[in-house]
Amino acid sequence: MKNKKILMVGGAGYIGSHCVKYMRRNGYDATVMDNFSTGHAESIKGVSLVQADLRIREDCRRALATGPYDAVFHFAAFCAIGESVKEPAKYYENNVVGTFYLLDEMRKAGVSRFIFSSTCATFGVPERIPIDEGQRQWPVNPYGWTKLDVEIMLEHFRQAYGLSYSILRYFNAAGADPEGELGEEHPQEGHLIPCVIFKALGRRKSLTIFGNDYPTPDGTCVRDYIHVMDLAEAHRLAMERMSPGSGDAFHLGNGNGYSNLEVIRCVESISGAKVDFEYGPRREGDPPLLIGDSSRANEILGWKPKYPELETIVKTAYDWHSKHPKGYKS
Ligand SMILES: NC(=O)c1ccc[n+]([C@@H]2O[C@H](COP(=O)([O-])OP(=O)(O)OC[C@H]3O[C@@H](n4cnc5c(N)ncnc54)[C@H](O)[C@@H]3O)[C@@H](O)[C@H]2O)c1
Repeated sequence: MKNKKILMVGGAGYIGSHCVKYMRRNGYDATVMDNFSTGHAESIKGVSLVQADLRIREDCRRALATGPYDAVFHFAAFCAIGESVKEPAKYYENNVVGTFYLLDEMRKAGVSRFIFSSTCATFGVPERIPIDEGQRQWPVNPYGWTKLDVEIMLEHFRQAYGLSYSILRYFNAAGADPEGELGEEHPQEGHLIPCVIFKALGRRKSLTIFGNDYPTPDGTCVRDYIHVMDLAEAHRLAMERMSPGSGDAFHLGNGNGYSNLEVIRCVESISGAKVDFEYGPRREGDPPLLIGDSSRANEILGWKPKYPELETIVKTAYDWHSKHPKGYKS
């Protein structure tokens, strides 16, 4: 598939932009479709761009008309869990209706390969740890449901129209481009690693850890952090593996859980700064432990994370944030 053309929807966002860089570096021809609602033009300098909105069917058609494309990678979504509870309509419109327009226009344009950014949040409170692909999916918030709705839509499109898809369920995406060009910048940052780094760098006044009475070794939530460049590589491997009419799902995590307190200690040791924080109440729907079983991705795709250690993940993120005090506007 090298030299093939890929439409990367949401390619100006955090994970998308790292994936665009990785795919171009590996000889693929990437075009980004983005509306910059949370993405950054600075993260895709020199990349072909179609500025377009997924929620407008004609925009999807216009973007696909710049092909022909061999595959579509779909990163575009709203992904703040708390906001999805307050504004589910916004989430269903963007994540489900927008994806429907994209898939329907792909069908008309004859593009049949699709890689979808899904999430461990489709499992809600998992039945067992680590979480493998065989467990029951039952989300506990609208965000997770919108992602599961799309997963189901993909299977129906496969059965009826011969779509080939690969669902990649990320655990906690983290870290930054080791070459320092790209990093994580979300409008209202809610992810733990950047929040702790901002506190270490004096860029936020306070830091709250939600819950210290979970059944985990230190009482705080445990998560599986996966480097964003390792996610990028999984996209390439998943696309290469696809066959006509195939539908598959893979979990992408490191299989190691780190507690909130371990993340804070790691940031302290890398930054040399003391990170003060306070405990707040548990957040509704926050499972104590989320750790992925990625053996399927390992066995079938040959995927093996290159940056599995928390220290490397945090160091790449810290380097980017410390050199970009105003994010991409720095
Ligand atoms: N960050 C994580 O830890 C994580 C974990 C699991 C799954 N995911 C999924 O991965 C994907 C990417 O996440 P991210 O952290 O890079 O998010 P992000 O907000 O940084 O990137 C999303 C991109 O999509 C674009 N976009 C959103 N709505 C659009 C629309 N209607 N039309 C065109 N472009 C639109 C945004 O402008 C942005 O560039 C999302 O689908 C998210 O649900 C993320």
